[in-house]
Amino acid sequence: MSKSFYITTAIDYINGEPHLGHAYEKVIADIIARARRSMGVEVFFLTGVDEHGQKVQQAAIAAGKTAQAYCDELAAVYKSLASRLRLTIDDFVRTTEPRHKQAVQAILTKLHAEGFFYKSNYEGFYSARAETFLTEKDRLPDGTFPPHYGEVVRLVEENYYFRLKDQQQWLIDYIEKNPGFIQPDYRRNEVLGFLRNNTLEDLCSTRPASRLNWGIPVPFDRDFVTWVWFDALVNYISVPAAHGDPGVTSALGLAPSPDSAPSLWPADLHVIGKDILKFHAVYWPIMLKAMGLPLPKQILVHGWWQKEGEKLSKSTGNVVDPIAVIDEWGLDAFRFYVVRELAIGPDGNWTDAGFRSRYDSELANGLGNLVNRSLSMLKRYRNGIIPKRSDELSAEAARIVAETRALLEQNQLQAALLSIWTLVTHANQYVDRTAPFRLAKDPAQSQRLDEVLYNLAEVGRILAVLLWPFIPGTAERIYKQLGLAESLENFSQTSWGGLTPGHAIGEPAALFPRKDAAPS
Ligand code: MSP
Repeated sequence: MSKSFYITTAIDYINGEPHLGHAYEKVIADIIARARRSMGVEVFFLTGVDEHGQKVQQAAIAAGKTAQAYCDELAAVYKSLASRLRLTIDDFVRTTEPRHKQAVQAILTKLHAEGFFYKSNYEGFYSARAETFLTEKDRLPDGTFPPHYGEVVRLVEENYYFRLKDQQQWLIDYIEKNPGFIQPDYRRNEVLGFLRNNTLEDLCSTRPASRLNWGIPVPFDRDFVTWVWFDALVNYISVPAAHGDPGVTSALGLAPSPDSAPSLWPADLHVIGKDILKFHAVYWPIMLKAMGLPLPKQILVHGWWQKEGEKLSKSTGNVVDPIAVIDEWGLDAFRFYVVRELAIGPDGNWTDAGFRSRYDSELANGLGNLVNRSLSMLKRYRNGIIPKRSDELSAEAARIVAETRALLEQNQLQAALLSIWTLVTHANQYVDRTAPFRLAKDPAQSQRLDEVLYNLAEVGRILAVLLWPFIPGTAERIYKQLGLAESLENFSQTSWGGLTPGHAIGEPAALFPRKDAAPS
């Protein structure tokens, strides 16, 4: 089978309820997946949850549950968020699933047999929050460890180490030769800077089962479980292996694949947040090389959200609950705001006032008003029947379609949305300039009115196709109001002239009802 465009997100730790950061990342990945599919590409989109490790185990203990029962409950919450967000995922991985454990153990066995691991004593600092060991170099100038590591404890223990030393130079060369490997560029430079200025230490890849038993047993030594990051990164290939991807199953020595198995690996895109870049851009490529597998084509790194200028934090209550926002404002308002407000890369700041203002001005007054007045006038003046074709706005639409396509191909979602919005704005100006409500009063202007109404309906149709990856529910409603049923999910439908004269549209209705009360 031909290779699919394989896109993944980070898999979330389920030590609490999902928050804005989790939902944001999944939405941008979904928009990319939908946009590619709309452009005719076969896509496989994977997300899931990261269930092992101390953090999750501690959360389970705090909740008075067994780790498995706790994970089963939380995994269901994350899965239901995926469907509330309307993620077009092809699979949802849980790292406690047998199919995943089997792949992790196969990798450990293979790498151990090839001499990639050795056992050694460690004495030093450990952060449970980051699930990682720290060194003196991680201390701040005042001697403390950065607050995002949480409580840091001293540990002495024996573990298996994965050989990272001597792997530095090929990785530097690779990143230098492949400028697209890590995006945006400033994240790539950050990784290069780290690799050029530090010596990689071998990676502690196990934890003693006596201290932490919530992990995948190490197949060659049952006194240990797999370090949660070694386990988690493997999800990107354990799922292809489970689907029978021949490249992965043969590299890992797993059962041979049926002929119909999809070819997924290497991933085309790993979408991740900035805090987990080192794991994806340093450890993961070295692990893959050791397994004899190719590297992912691109790591796309997004920034972090704050709310009202402060860090998101459960303890201070400074949180955005994506489900509550969706319940109040609708899914598309959420999907629109996060992409419109923040490009993929820098950090962002959610403000309730900004959310409301974009809802009112861009969704309700911009897109909603355009579609609603266009279709209402078509209903009122032409009985809802599409008039003779006119191409007045066709060149403008074609320009924006081409621009949007190019931006989507580069995963520039915010810029693509801005490009689409210039069409919304121009079409609204076109209504004001041509004043169809005045034309309707003058029988001599009947032909002109036909032209204007055709152009507006056709722009509405094209906007629906362009916007489908971003705000699918709204795009579907526009299509329905236009009396159309098919091909919304196909970018080629953006060519001018899709509406046939004589076609009867459906019922116009407000796309974004105005909210008078302040958000609670
Ligand atoms: N389990 C690891 C990832 C393993 S991937 C093989 C993990 N989980 S996490 O739940 O802490 O984070 C999941 C994703 O959410 C990460 O990409 C992270 O950057 C992102 N975000 C967490 N908080 C965020 C914000 N405040 N803003 C934007 N994204 C954030 O790390």
